[in-house]
Amino acid sequence: MSRKRIVAGNWKMNMTPAETTAFIAKLRPLVDNTEVDVVLCVPAIDIIPAMTATRGTNIEIGAQNMHFEENGAYTGEIAPGMLTDAGVKYVILGHSERREYNHETDEVLNKKVKKAFEHGLTPILCCGETLEQRNKGITLDFIRMQIKSDLAGVPASDVEEMVIAYEPIWAIGTGETATSAQAEEVCKAIRECIAEIYSEGTAERVRIQYGGSVNAANAKELFSQPDIDGGLVGGASLKPDFGKIVNC
Ligand code: 13P
Repeated sequence: MSRKRIVAGNWKMNMTPAETTAFIAKLRPLVDNTEVDVVLCVPAIDIIPAMTATRGTNIEIGAQNMHFEENGAYTGEIAPGMLTDAGVKYVILGHSERREYNHETDEVLNKKVKKAFEHGLTPILCCGETLEQRNKGITLDFIRMQIKSDLAGVPASDVEEMVIAYEPIWAIGTGETATSAQAEEVCKAIRECIAEIYSEGTAERVRIQYGGSVNAANAKELFSQPDIDGGLVGGASLKPDFGKIVNC
């Protein structure tokens, strides 16, 4: 079974609304490739201009976070229904920066994953180990624990539609990419973990990305690994080089 590749940009806290409009105008012709799902996960305030700038293109818009409640007294948060009303299709959940700086736990992420599916949003669920965990040799155990906790009670039919992003924390924004063998080892283990919890069929369908210092020079080798179905790209998604990554 062949999975459609998916390359997503995570802009993090970069780009103003005006910059969003100008950048997407430049990017549009560079990512005109329907063989790949192309997603830009932009800051909340850039969602509306990004939707306008990508109208009529193959680019989908994603958010970088979402609350697990429908609405209410949660100052500064964004509700799932706000995202879908704006036309958002994807939402990054559990990025290591949010786990670290915003203290997002696996318990909270489990609620967010379920809520995203209730609204028809596709989660891009992030997992990944620290350098310390890698050096201790507990990478695979830790990732399995994250996946099992974050997906507890999520049905197979939803898991088949979602995206999981393996992002080793030591490779994020450091310029130090995991080797294709290191990335493949963990992505394969994630797929095996899904097969164990659900079935081989579900594991074959779920798309797994690699993220962490992906650039135009290393993307091709990473994305050609059997269990890597594309990438979640930080810094390089803020430049026209993102087009090269999509097309590699
Ligand atoms: P970099 O590509 O900048 O290393 O960031 C990766 C990342 O965190 C994407 O979510």
